[in-house]
Amino acid sequence: MWSDTARATPWTLWSGVLAEEIARIRDAHREPGFGTMSLEDLVDIEKLVATHRPRSFLEIGTATGLSAAVIAHMLEEHGGERLMTVDLLDHFYGDPTRVAGFVLPLAYPDGPVTVDRRTGWTAADVVESGETFEMALVDGGHLHPWPLIDTLCVNVVLTGPRLVLQDDLTLFRRKPDGRGVGPKHLFDQFPESHREQFPAGGGNLFLLSLDLPPERIEEIALDCLALPWTLRQAIPEATVAQVQAVLDEHYSERLAQAFASTCARFNQPNGRYFRASKRAAAPVVPTT
Ligand SMILES: C[S@@+](CC[C@H](N)C(=O)[O-])C[C@H]1O[C@@H](n2cnc3c(N)ncnc32)[C@H](O)[C@@H]1O
Repeated sequence: MWSDTARATPWTLWSGVLAEEIARIRDAHREPGFGTMSLEDLVDIEKLVATHRPRSFLEIGTATGLSAAVIAHMLEEHGGERLMTVDLLDHFYGDPTRVAGFVLPLAYPDGPVTVDRRTGWTAADVVESGETFEMALVDGGHLHPWPLIDTLCVNVVLTGPRLVLQDDLTLFRRKPDGRGVGPKHLFDQFPESHREQFPAGGGNLFLLSLDLPPERIEEIALDCLALPWTLRQAIPEATVAQVQAVLDEHYSERLAQAFASTCARFNQPNGRYFRASKRAAAPVVPTT
């Protein structure tokens, strides 16, 4: 499945014209606390963009817009035409006074790549937009099951080689509360033949191939959904309804129903459902 060029070249030897340019753009616009992707991960993304030459690219999770700006440069270099980046928040999560994606107009002020930045959007809004994309990067919510939900939505809008990059596989090890386990749960459900972890950036970036029979994608989703969710806040009702609509329209009744029933169990801050199920399991003590 993987191209030899894309997998075998250590990034320091990568001859992509952008390796130095990526470092230059990243260094010029990065500030402490930006929480942006590592240089190594961006260079790995460039290898894939150079190899597959997607004309359109979708990013879930804009934050400052730095990774999106770098991807816009990559697309320009390798024949791409269109980038959409979306973020749940209107503002940068690290600084509420700055709009989400504020770096984009600075780091990619103009050029042939059309950049569409959407705030207050999730991947379900992308499905509603009706647009399609030839490659995607999921770097939005890392609490389980967001990476799965994003991937199921991306699966609907993806054309071409059906490749989805995903960030933050190792987040659950780095954060003490372990909630950011969403990427890991997703990675673990995929067959080895359809997942690849990139070592250069410490194994944080990975690639999934969604080039699987629809029934296989559904099995993966069913297993992943059933793992206890690790949310801090419940997914709002309106968003649940949007995701449910995507599943109702594009997936089987079984998966759509599984989402509804796992929502009923797990769509609440992690911890509450464990306490609730303990109460439910307690023996009934006769009162007379
Ligand atoms: C790790 S940051 C993205 C970093 C960015 N890709 C970069 O490398 O510069 C994650 C972003 O995803 C956004 N986010 C969180 N949950 C989301 C969701 N369910 N859908 C879309 N965006 C989400 C957050 O607001 C945050 O801005």
